[in-house]
Amino acid sequence: MMSARHFLSMMDYTPDELVGLIRRGIELKDLRNRGVLFEPLRGRVLAMIFEKSSTRTRVSFEAGMIQLGGQAIFLSPRDTQLGRGEPIADGARVMSRMVDAVMIRTFAHSNLTEFAANSRVPVINGLSDDLHPCQLLADMQTFLEHRGSIKGKTVAWIGDGNNMCNSYIEAAIQFDFKLRVACPEGYEPNAQFMALAGDRVTLTRDPREAVKGAHLISTDVWTSMGQEEETAKRIALFKPFQVTRALLDMAAEDVLFMHCLPAHRGEEISEDLLDDVRSVAWDQAENRLHAQKALLEFLVAPAYQPA
Ligand code: CP
Ligand code: NVA
Repeated sequence: MMSARHFLSMMDYTPDELVGLIRRGIELKDLRNRGVLFEPLRGRVLAMIFEKSSTRTRVSFEAGMIQLGGQAIFLSPRDTQLGRGEPIADGARVMSRMVDAVMIRTFAHSNLTEFAANSRVPVINGLSDDLHPCQLLADMQTFLEHRGSIKGKTVAWIGDGNNMCNSYIEAAIQFDFKLRVACPEGYEPNAQFMALAGDRVTLTRDPREAVKGAHLISTDVWTSMGQEEETAKRIALFKPFQVTRALLDMAAEDVLFMHCLPAHRGEEISEDLLDDVRSVAWDQAENRLHAQKALLEFLVAPAYQPA
């Protein structure tokens, strides 16, 4: 019964499957740009459980399901019994008898694995404290569109060793690129992910060293959702890790800059960075829609037959 395929981490899929998904994302983007109606998920329903705020993840999944002919249901812990202590496993058993897939944005990653273990239908990680794999599908699609294959390239992650950074480590393994992480002491990415990556991932305290010759520079907020009480301390500590135009100048000539957004201008990026021609943050945000449509098409069974 629990045989559904999930997407909790980049490691759940083979490298070929991941490349297939981002190529399909590009095709689905082209279909939409040409105004072609493509509704393989007619009658299908995605439940979306959000325990944290979201703009991109919610809009892209909800719009994506509608564009594929299906529907999405937005659920917050304020409205469901999950928020009143109903066990996750029970919620999973019930919901997965009613809907065709479930997307979850949560705190502890174990909430996702527990839900998935009790779900009949695919479960998608819409961000946990540990990982943000859907964002990496969009980032990898964006790099492919702008620069071709990322295999063998060098990527610099500047700032917090957070959920996004962990997902970059997984992407480095799966897409076969070198990753340099520049972070303050005490804010390193998950050691288990680092160990898995071997010499593909290196750690430094110096952003300038990290970006030397890099083909992609990526960063994220210094204070992630759930860490709000640490904000002041983090702002002071992370100051040397701000990404600026001058830092981009030290990278490869054709470097791209990405930010998963939301951005805090004046903190992790300089005020003007998203306006720099090397920034592809808006394409990257748009590609959440296309890459996740490819994921939904892959995971959710095709439409019912007419009666
Ligand atoms: N990048 C991202 O996941 O954005 P949201 O928090 O707005 O969903
Ligand atoms: N690291 C950020 C990403 C937001 C999309 C957070 O977890 O809040």
